[in-house]
Amino acid sequence: MSSVITIKDLNKTYKNGSVEVHALKDVNLEIQHGEFIAVMGQSGSGKSTLMNILGCLDRPTSGEYLLEGINIKDQSQDELSLIRNKKIGFVFQAFNLIPRTDVLRNVELPMIYAKQKTSYRRARAIELLEKVGLGDRTHHLPNELSGGQKQRVAIARALANNPPIILADEPTGNLDTQSSDEIMEIFRDLNKEGSSIILVTHEPEIAEYADRVIVFRDGRLIEDRRKEGVSKLFG
Ligand SMILES: Nc1ncnc2c1ncn2[C@@H]1O[C@H](COP(=O)(O)OP(=O)(O)OP(=O)(O)O)[C@@H](O)[C@H]1O
Ligand SMILES: [Mg+2]
Repeated sequence: MSSVITIKDLNKTYKNGSVEVHALKDVNLEIQHGEFIAVMGQSGSGKSTLMNILGCLDRPTSGEYLLEGINIKDQSQDELSLIRNKKIGFVFQAFNLIPRTDVLRNVELPMIYAKQKTSYRRARAIELLEKVGLGDRTHHLPNELSGGQKQRVAIARALANNPPIILADEPTGNLDTQSSDEIMEIFRDLNKEGSSIILVTHEPEIAEYADRVIVFRDGRLIEDRRKEGVSKLFG
């Protein structure tokens, strides 16, 4: 079993004028390929800050972050964009679809950045939309979809370049219970197919889907527990 993510003594400080917020404090974390992790903790505890660093959207103030053995510190901005495009699928609470752009093209976008051929892109986008149960919505605009459907498009988009890691920051935060369950079942299937999933949630029922739960408080990782049976695999 190899590590997909290694974090050592990671700190993140935000500075706004004279105000400093120490959002992450000495965080150490090792994540193996194929794990399904729920990230919990009260509002402001640093969960999104961690996700943004894991997703290479932001850099730590100090400490190390290795993504599949690559030290993020040594990468240029362009190299980071490439890593993000190939290795990470990001799903956000607010869906973040491109408005006035149909569902098919939204899913194609990461493949356009990855310079894939049109015919491949189109076929892959349709395949992914079918996978999330939206094969009949390819030409709808985002505002013509329900919240749960928007999130399924966002998941299809996140999967476009077949990334080994899926990061999801409160993906069910704007959804009703039934849509949340549908979304979580998609994540569970993806994890069974081998994706590593790291998912932020406030809800214990959502965290139930994960094999491992990590909890933050005031920027510190204060709890890291694995479910019975799973611990044997990774222990
Ligand atoms: N861009 C920023 N500039 C300054 N401070 C920030 C910035 N982003 C986050 N913070 C601060 O860092 C701390 C951690 O924020 P973060 O967004 O990581 O919390 P969170 O655990 O995701 O909370 P929530 O559950 O509400 O989403 C908070 O105190 C927040 O105010
Ligand atoms: Mg957050």
